[in-house]
Amino acid sequence: MKVFLLLSLLAVGAHGAIPIDRRIDCQPDSESTAESCLARGCVYDETTVGPIGTPKCYMRADEIGYTANFGPGGGEILTKNKGPSSPWGDDISSIRYRISGLGNGVLNVRIGTEERRYDPAPILNLPRETLPSDETLQVDIAGTDPFAIAVKRGDGSTLFDTSIGGLIFTDQFIQIAALLPSDKMYGWGENIHQSLKHDFTRYTSWGMFARGDAPNSTDLHTANLYGVHPFYLLLEPSGKAHGVFFLNTNAQDVTTLPAPGLVYRTTGGFLDMYFFPGPTPGQVIAQYHAFIGRPFMPSYWALGYQLCRWGYKSLDDLKSRVNAVMAAGIPLDVVYADIDYMDRRKDFTTDPEKWSGFNEYIDQLHSKGMSSILIFDPAVQADYDVFQRAKDKKVSFIEWERADQVQPEIQSQYPMANDTKIMLGLVWPDRHVAFPDFLDTTTATDEWWEDEFKRYYQQVKFDGAWIDMNEPQVFYTRNTPNDEIPSNGRYPVICPKTGPDAKWDSPPYQTHAVFYYGEDAFLGQDSLCLTGLSQRGTNRMYNTRNLYGWSESRSTSAVMEKTTGRRANVISRSTFASSGRYAGHWLGDNSATWSDLRTSISEAMEFNMFGLPYVGSDVCGFKGVSNEELCLRWHQMAAFHSFYRNHNAIAYPSQDPAVWPSVAAATKKANEFRYRYLPYLYNLHYRSSTLGDTVVRPLFFEYPLDEATHEISYQFMWGPSITVAPVYTQGATSVEAYIPAADTYFSLNDHNYGSKVTTGLNIYDAPTTSNAPTFVRAKLDISAASIIPRHQSSAITTTALRALPFSYLVVPGNGAASGTLFWDDGDSIVESWKDADYVLADLTYSSVGGNSLVVNVTRGTTTIIVPTLAELEIFDYPSAPDYSSFTLNGAKISVNTQASKYSAITKVFTVAFSQRIPLNKEGVSTIRWNNVNKS
Ligand SMILES: *[C@@H]1O[C@H](CO)[C@@H](O)[C@H](O)[C@H]1NC(C)=O
Ligand SMILES: *[C@@H]1O[C@H](CO)[C@@H](O)[C@H](O)[C@H]1NC(C)=O
Ligand SMILES: *[C@@H]1O[C@H](CO)[C@@H](O)[C@H](O)[C@H]1NC(C)=O
Repeated sequence: MKVFLLLSLLAVGAHGAIPIDRRIDCQPDSESTAESCLARGCVYDETTVGPIGTPKCYMRADEIGYTANFGPGGGEILTKNKGPSSPWGDDISSIRYRISGLGNGVLNVRIGTEERRYDPAPILNLPRETLPSDETLQVDIAGTDPFAIAVKRGDGSTLFDTSIGGLIFTDQFIQIAALLPSDKMYGWGENIHQSLKHDFTRYTSWGMFARGDAPNSTDLHTANLYGVHPFYLLLEPSGKAHGVFFLNTNAQDVTTLPAPGLVYRTTGGFLDMYFFPGPTPGQVIAQYHAFIGRPFMPSYWALGYQLCRWGYKSLDDLKSRVNAVMAAGIPLDVVYADIDYMDRRKDFTTDPEKWSGFNEYIDQLHSKGMSSILIFDPAVQADYDVFQRAKDKKVSFIEWERADQVQPEIQSQYPMANDTKIMLGLVWPDRHVAFPDFLDTTTATDEWWEDEFKRYYQQVKFDGAWIDMNEPQVFYTRNTPNDEIPSNGRYPVICPKTGPDAKWDSPPYQTHAVFYYGEDAFLGQDSLCLTGLSQRGTNRMYNTRNLYGWSESRSTSAVMEKTTGRRANVISRSTFASSGRYAGHWLGDNSATWSDLRTSISEAMEFNMFGLPYVGSDVCGFKGVSNEELCLRWHQMAAFHSFYRNHNAIAYPSQDPAVWPSVAAATKKANEFRYRYLPYLYNLHYRSSTLGDTVVRPLFFEYPLDEATHEISYQFMWGPSITVAPVYTQGATSVEAYIPAADTYFSLNDHNYGSKVTTGLNIYDAPTTSNAPTFVRAKLDISAASIIPRHQSSAITTTALRALPFSYLVVPGNGAASGTLFWDDGDSIVESWKDADYVLADLTYSSVGGNSLVVNVTRGTTTIIVPTLAELEIFDYPSAPDYSSFTLNGAKISVNTQASKYSAITKVFTVAFSQRIPLNKEGVSTIRWNNVNKS
């Protein structure tokens, strides 16, 4: 005890200079003691009370690092200094740093070795475009021993300051730490954050390593989920924002320090960091998306309501639930089948008994204007024709490096695989499966995948692909003494965790993706071994595991286009930065809990930042027994998420909206609102796909200078013009919503439709019978006051909807408004936006010198038919209009006065035209009219 105390006093005495809010953990991998800590060359202090999570054993970060040699010939070389060594592997004595501008203020700081190392950049092949910005970034050298940099704006403010120390570069452990200018950090994924803004009142570590782990939002869970997004956005004290992307695909983690600061750690590759200057949050994201690649454009139908469950007992069971939902009059577009439809859960097969007639049924859905999406798992059983064809085509699979590593008890069961080194694992099928290597350096794997999709498409005409289990998740791999060995020869994969092959599966630093799970955890757990080879034997899962879902998405998106001849709509469970180019994402196997409903609101905003705006949760909760109130509220919220699907796990009672009359009524109402506003949502996706905009976004994106918006997690903007404050707590009949004072907002709720709402934080009625409280923005800055293209009414499917005319909602600020309309056929492949066939129009409203609505079709085509205009609705309309005064391009047009109305009280004006107005042709169409009292 005495010795102990003395040691810690010594330690604190010698290195007490490191403040309690910026300690870099030296022993996150095990319980630290004074001895074990000092043996690592670190400081032990168990007495000082600090924020939650303060490490007891911390690095002498101020001494750790590299020396910059600016002498002749020194250049960009850094030499390991005399400070403490890495606790995890040998420091590389000489490394190189390089700072380069990508143009337009985007800055790259790259630190690595000179020798060849794994670099993910060639695989990802990011477009690396930049966008004009008024901001510039520069790097100052903030220290020479230890070497430190400070990334600064042109105005001198510091964004990222590594003088906190702690730079470590070993073969398998790399660390950089930085002080940050504020605690307003958003992003990093895929994790469940309890709030959108990170919590800097404590130390928190987050794992980033793809794993098939379900979200749990009950309280703080720092587990890594399905995908990896090493990106954050930070709001500075000035209200400017910047973004930072770590281009690295290895197992990695990040710790937020109260300072505020961060420690980023990875197990391979380079420190390849990209700084995006903003200065607005929206610009940061647009710059990031230009760099990584902008999101794919979903089909119009893919924005419709989707119904799914795992555990339909048969096709008839599915039909009965679909019929129940349709009978309730609920708009529905997409019918799913989960693995139930397959024959013994094997890809590209149909259960011949319980699902006979599947294709005929899908044909029927098509004839009703509906669509279907089917699940596909990446891995194929090693004993049927699909696998044989793969072998014949020389497809690359994830495999062992050497024959002596192959598990004979597995391989010998499969004559088709017995002569291969393919790493066979267990997933859903009865027998072992082989995992295609979608990073194959030849085209063989993609071609085989395409062929299998086409073959199955000959049998069943599905419309979209849902790719699951692609972390990849593998069952029974925990390999602990307690791990049950499944029967019938279902032997698990066993990874080399000791001995000469252990380098990949037991690296010196295993990241929070292992520490989180406790003692017996290891990196390869629940997946294939990291020693496994990928990229046709030239790389390892150690480096590319986080790209498995990414590469499957890329392949499947291309394959779906070739299979259906139409736009690909793929949703993937595992994603990496830039996956959004190929796929959307559902938020995984959530539970029927209020907390999972709550965090799905902020998670959807995060995935929009990550470039995957086609995102949403399993409505009503996947696991667990859902209930009427939860399911109702979930629909009301999710009706604003681009990916909108009710999905349920096997063994739980049905939870489609037709189960409860109240949920059916609320879902019908929520869907009718969504369907009506689909042209607006579709336009948001067009903007996302072409400009890098977000679709759902935090309020602070629109109001970075309004501090009250910075911590809002569960109210969101639906594009620039609409804010939604959903109910996410049990028993609530009202909800708090924040209305920024910078603009005017009007209610879109039926009880006070069109009325101006008070600014600030207020309580709004939210009965279960009304949609989520929704408000539309009249930006006082005219250029962004809202004109929202809508359909005149809802319809039962998006197919029926597309035939309906438009109604524009005009929400003027200071008597003027503008908006845009995007329209195409909703389903054609977009090879390039330059050549795509679509119509784009600028909409402008003015009340100066009479009233006018100008539709300026800036891009017209002869093939795309834009719905005609049947109606205009204008909020905050000051005085009675003269119905007889309407003209279109100078020619009189008649108004259906029966269907038109103006209320001097609500100031809502609706005008219905007797004849629908075509606004299709390139050029300008102007509707003009006067008011009764021309003052
Ligand atoms: C979520 O985590 C809590 C502990 O924080 C646990 O009690 C609960 O069972 C977990 N829920 C699920 C669905 O795993
Ligand atoms: C698989 O290969 C092993 C070793 O070559 C051999 O002993 C075994 O009989 C083979 N099994 C089959 C099913 O081909
Ligand atoms: C219509 O759009 C074109 C292209 O942006 C622009 O040049 C023109 O001035 C616009 N016309 C009107 C009347 O707004």
